[in-house]
Amino acid sequence: MSKRSITTLDLLSKKQNGEKIVMCTAYDATFASILDAAGIDMLLVGDSLGMVIQGHSTTLPVTLDHMLYHTAAVSRGASTAHIVGDLPFMSYRISVEQALTAATRMLQEGGAHSVKLEGGQDIANTVEQIVTAGIPVVGHVGLTPQSVHAMGGFKVQGRDVESARRILDDAKALQDAGCFSIVLEGIPMEVAADITANLSIPTIGIGAGKHCDGQVLVCYDLLGMSGDFKPKFLKTYASLREQITDAASQFATEVKSGSFPEDKHSFHAPKPHLVRTNSSDDDSPPETDPEKLYGSPA
Ligand code: KIV
Repeated sequence: MSKRSITTLDLLSKKQNGEKIVMCTAYDATFASILDAAGIDMLLVGDSLGMVIQGHSTTLPVTLDHMLYHTAAVSRGASTAHIVGDLPFMSYRISVEQALTAATRMLQEGGAHSVKLEGGQDIANTVEQIVTAGIPVVGHVGLTPQSVHAMGGFKVQGRDVESARRILDDAKALQDAGCFSIVLEGIPMEVAADITANLSIPTIGIGAGKHCDGQVLVCYDLLGMSGDFKPKFLKTYASLREQITDAASQFATEVKSGSFPEDKHSFHAPKPHLVRTNSSDDDSPPETDPEKLYGSPA
């Protein structure tokens, strides 16, 4: 029997109890099962997959079908984490109907427990309709990567009083619209602290300082797989890029030298072999039953 997943109510009570929330991204079942077992509360199937999985320079080429494919894989791999499916660029802004359809598919086909949308007061009505339909929503304000061209690049937002005030108003509008949590990305820590103190729902920060109710990082970044991508807000907790490179080059060396595979990595065929010998006393038909040749599947 599968374990109970972390719910929106569990996450709300973490804020009330002053317990930090841990979120990180996941894009496939293997990573999801590892991160879930490590005790990550929320797995975000972020549209950052456009950059770290698909190799684009922005998240804009990611489609809803791409997101559904990865969200379903993460759902199959996780057992307790709360799974958030990101709604990608323009999949929720054309009409409320479009947004409802996208959010519905994220739960029905992706197996997500909630959806995330980027935007503030401009999407409050859409958020309200999705929440009214029974689908929990995570907001996302500050540096919103889907608006990279409108922002003139991936730039810290809310550095002046006016834009900081706008982000706070956006966050409040999202809370009023029914969001159960909000991602604060790329804003000064003082602004994030103000927003966090002014909301009853948890804030999850990335590049927003330590006063948020939780923190999120892209899994490939925190595991040290992202090469030269070293923004100020990032801390790497492993050096998997080096370890993977070392392991792969050792594999290549051993294959080329013939030292892999060894006998212990090889299967042995019972006699008579598939390939006939010339031996005159062995005229039985060759063994073709795969179980006898390779053993039964584990
Ligand atoms: O797409 C994503 O991974 C995100 C996080 C960085 C918050 O939105």
